[in-house]
Amino acid sequence: MTDPLHAELLEIAQEAARRAGELLRDGRPADLAVAATKSSPIDVVTEMDIAAEKLITGLIADRRPQDGFLGEEGAATQGTTGVRWVIDPLDGTVNYLYGLPTWAVSIAAERDGETVAGVVAAPMRGETYHAVRGGGAWATGAWDGERRLACRPSPPLDQALVSTGFNYVAEVRAEQAEIARRLIPLVRDIRRGGSAAIDLCDVAAGRLDGYYERGLHPWDRAAGDLIAREAGAVTGGRPGERLSGELTIAASPGVFEPLQRLLEDFGA
Ligand code: IPD
Ligand code: CA
Ligand code: CA
Repeated sequence: MTDPLHAELLEIAQEAARRAGELLRDGRPADLAVAATKSSPIDVVTEMDIAAEKLITGLIADRRPQDGFLGEEGAATQGTTGVRWVIDPLDGTVNYLYGLPTWAVSIAAERDGETVAGVVAAPMRGETYHAVRGGGAWATGAWDGERRLACRPSPPLDQALVSTGFNYVAEVRAEQAEIARRLIPLVRDIRRGGSAAIDLCDVAAGRLDGYYERGLHPWDRAAGDLIAREAGAVTGGRPGERLSGELTIAASPGVFEPLQRLLEDFGA
């Protein structure tokens, strides 16, 4: 049975993700411009990233005023309840800026440092993915009710469709491109969708065999990691380690280990 607190956190995350998704989808200015840059000139923030985070943290704080926050656009409080919300208000900002549809709102709730509920809303797909720890992964979309997510049966690595992402810092991107160059002849193909949260949910939904990326932040991966694991995928980082800022890998069980080994050999 689902812990009532986890069910409450999920319900709040679902509402916040839905409302932020609607704001981003319906409120995108035709002349949307870059408001600021962060780690490099191509690491951009728009007024909509900031507005979406404000909406999410405001809604959650109304319901649970003592919880902590870690949000990409600046929310950072400890809270007193043991619950902390890890939020990427707009994952896939560059896609959003250009009008490409692959972007998402990602909201996770941690309890005592462990993710217990996660929601990723992808409004331009008309789909939302969610999970509570121990309760499976689920999606809602253009069908009735909730559909249970399950990762794909594992193909041999040379038939695996693998997605990745690239950092905003030029030197890191160059190293990542070199690893992708070495990997591509050994797998079916490589994708670069532009939203880590959606990549993780696509592994969960059986739309990718695997995904890896170096340099993610907690808000990029917190919700998607739980959703992928609850769908039967294996997630991790370097061999023997949990996923981290250094490396995030998510894949069907039979793809995970050979992919992790190759990435280690390549120095990912
Ligand atoms: C980015 C996206 C992208 C990934 C980058 C992330 P943002 O998040 O998830 O797919 O490759 O590493 O920073 O900046 O659009 O929230
Ligand atoms: Ca992100
Ligand atoms: Ca973001």
